[in-house]
Amino acid sequence: MRLDKFLGSCGLGSRKQLKEYVKNGMVTVDGEVVSKSDINIDPAKNEIIFSGENLTENYKEFRYYLLNKPQGVVSATRDNHDETVLDLIDVGFDNNLAPVGRLDKDTEGLLIITNDGKLAHKLLSPKKHVEKEYEVHTRDPLSDKDIKKLEEGVDIGDDEPTLPAKSFIENTDGEDVLHLIIHEGRFHQVKRMLEAVGNEVVFLRRIRMGGLVLDPDLKPGEYRELSDEELKLLK
Ligand code: URA
Repeated sequence: MRLDKFLGSCGLGSRKQLKEYVKNGMVTVDGEVVSKSDINIDPAKNEIIFSGENLTENYKEFRYYLLNKPQGVVSATRDNHDETVLDLIDVGFDNNLAPVGRLDKDTEGLLIITNDGKLAHKLLSPKKHVEKEYEVHTRDPLSDKDIKKLEEGVDIGDDEPTLPAKSFIENTDGEDVLHLIIHEGRFHQVKRMLEAVGNEVVFLRRIRMGGLVLDPDLKPGEYRELSDEELKLLK
């Protein structure tokens, strides 16, 4: 790994700033002051110290964040028009972080952000059937018949109807909120499922993915690292 990439992933500043720090002798590799930021290092083998702080001691190759995605932000790494979920994560520039899957711009809730591509792939693989639970606020009340249809599978205009889902209604502040648990991840799936029963989603929040539950202490836009326990649940 390049030294500047490593320093960037530790959140020490922009590429330009890091180059300056290295030029000014603020970085040592195994006790030697280095002058170039494009040299190769191995964080598992080399000891890298920045301005007296040992960076390799606490270095983790993989990082896992739980974000409560707010509305109005897109689930992308980059976008020319909109703020992205990565703009909300302030942990250095060169870290290969990416959201695990997508939530629509107007959807709120649980989004995992990680640089662990293997785990992301596993969580998103249709074969793994990872459950996703959504709180669905609908325009109209849902009949038992509608709920049965949603659970059995509905035609949303794809080749195949949706796979069987689970659901329950929870009354929150006087409003009946549908909890819909699906294990697919088709484009706008929940919205299209509700359309298929003649209804409309007016607000959508994801509250669970596999065993990982949205932390109620995280306000929309806030994030934190996953605990070891949570990571185990996901894996
Ligand atoms: N289904 C949707 O329709 N939108 C989302 O953001 C997630 C699931």
